[in-house]
Amino acid sequence: MQIGLLCLLFQTIFATVMAEDLNIDKSQGKLEKYRQLRPQIEALITGESDPLANASNLCAALHEAFDFLWTGIYRVVDGELVLGPFQGPVGCTRIKKGKGVCGTAWEENRTIVVEDVDSFPGHIACSSMSKSEIVLPIRNASGDVTGVLDIDSDSLKAFDQSDAHELEKIIALIEPFEGL
Ligand code: SME
Repeated sequence: MQIGLLCLLFQTIFATVMAEDLNIDKSQGKLEKYRQLRPQIEALITGESDPLANASNLCAALHEAFDFLWTGIYRVVDGELVLGPFQGPVGCTRIKKGKGVCGTAWEENRTIVVEDVDSFPGHIACSSMSKSEIVLPIRNASGDVTGVLDIDSDSLKAFDQSDAHELEKIIALIEPFEGL
């Protein structure tokens, strides 16, 4: 009887924890993975108003679903990009406006897809394993850039306009991005 109760307790705890596990079929192509992922990120952040918590889970979910090399957010703080929540190897802490892919995406307020990081003038190599990259601006309600989402891959040409389109929809889940 006691063992039965104990099993029930473990099942309840296990089910509670599992409710927030991602469910992504990794055998599928990237568009299908984005399709599966977006509502799960939405569910993770629904009802949570803390921007750091939501941005952190967004990065973790993307990173886990796609096994990227690095997935993270830089925040605009006092005129610089400063490292925020991320998954992957340690990253550069501060990036100036107009520098690297991140600083350029911020300055030009646009998404940048880099098929080969060696071909991007001024690319900042936080990891020698990074081969391609995508950076998307994150905006506040006025349209000002308040951060960027930066994703790195260890493969060349990992990102294209379809990633830009899907990731813009995912970022919209945490915009307006303020107070992080
Ligand atoms: N490669 C980026 C710097 C950030 S790291 O990749 C995490 C850039 O050129 O801005």
